[in-house]
Amino acid sequence: MKSALFSPYTVKGVTLKNRIVMSPMCMYSSHNEDGQVEDWHMTHYVSRAVGQVGLIMVEATAVQPQGRISAQDLGIWSDEHVAGFKELNRQLKAHGSATAIQLAHAGRKATVEGDIYAPSALAFNDKMKTPVAMTQEDIKETVEAFVAGAIRAKEAGFDIIELHGAHGYLINEFLSPLTNKREDAYGGSTENRYRFLREIIEAVKAVWSGPLFVRVSANDYHPEGLNAEDYVTYASWMKEQGVDLVDVSSGAVVPAPIDVYPGYQVGFAETIKSGAGIDTGAVGLITSGLQAEEILRNGRADLIFVARELLRDPYWPRTAAKELGVEIEAPKQYERGW
Ligand code: FNR
Repeated sequence: MKSALFSPYTVKGVTLKNRIVMSPMCMYSSHNEDGQVEDWHMTHYVSRAVGQVGLIMVEATAVQPQGRISAQDLGIWSDEHVAGFKELNRQLKAHGSATAIQLAHAGRKATVEGDIYAPSALAFNDKMKTPVAMTQEDIKETVEAFVAGAIRAKEAGFDIIELHGAHGYLINEFLSPLTNKREDAYGGSTENRYRFLREIIEAVKAVWSGPLFVRVSANDYHPEGLNAEDYVTYASWMKEQGVDLVDVSSGAVVPAPIDVYPGYQVGFAETIKSGAGIDTGAVGLITSGLQAEEILRNGRADLIFVARELLRDPYWPRTAAKELGVEIEAPKQYERGW
């Protein structure tokens, strides 16, 4: 069978050998609480490159120490972080994977010591700290931290940068009216709520000419929150700004139940792709080759992000290829038993 899943994808001169992306997944494994790449990260990511994943996306990586979900998060807030990522890139590329890093700031969902920051002083729930509402000076510094992260990502040799604008972390908190109650230029209208992300994209693009992805939560699952139609507007602005792909997740902006089923977020990726005319990534309970093939062939998304299934099966590309009856290249050391 001719396969869309195993066809290459090229963006700004970066070619993925197939459409399979290892979805970013926090490993909380920087045990010295210094944000450094450790042995676990090497083993974990490189295994999936051996497994023939087209694009390996490194987990949410904090651009500021106060923007960590936990003290064990990876970080890119200092020049000392570059060497570890450089070595990781060297190893991943040796196995033929393209590489990406997700630049992140946890906002009010940070669980580190000291003050935490958000657009408005509203806690996520009664177990979490109430954040400090960011001043315009704080906003400026945070935009600069994303830029510094992008410069370091480039030095470390990543092919693609993704901005984490989903799951109720800082960028998402500015986008959603549920978490952004500001009365200045960064809150109120849709345009104002987009301003923080607009400034980050603009500033990052000044130092980074490679492919830029943005992950969004395309549904707040709340009557006063945002839905995929609202994200068509945001995605069309992202497209105007030169973002290459929107990676479409959902939820976690406020505590709200999510009805989860196979491909539960694919419809949002499709709405954004057709509504804004931008490439999208689909993610969320995509676990079989046939399911991935259907999404791509019907033009619902351009890349397939796989998270938990790749934890269970680091060779999932091989599993999916077998299911689709497609021959894929084996690592040369495995040719006799692939
Ligand atoms: C995640 N997810 C996630 N998402 C993200 O944007 N950045 C991150 O760092 C993480 N971290 C993370 C850790 C772990 C252990 C899991 C299981 C998940 C969400 C993940 O990328 C994906 O969107 C969801 O897991 C849904 O996809 P699957 O697992 O159904 O394929």
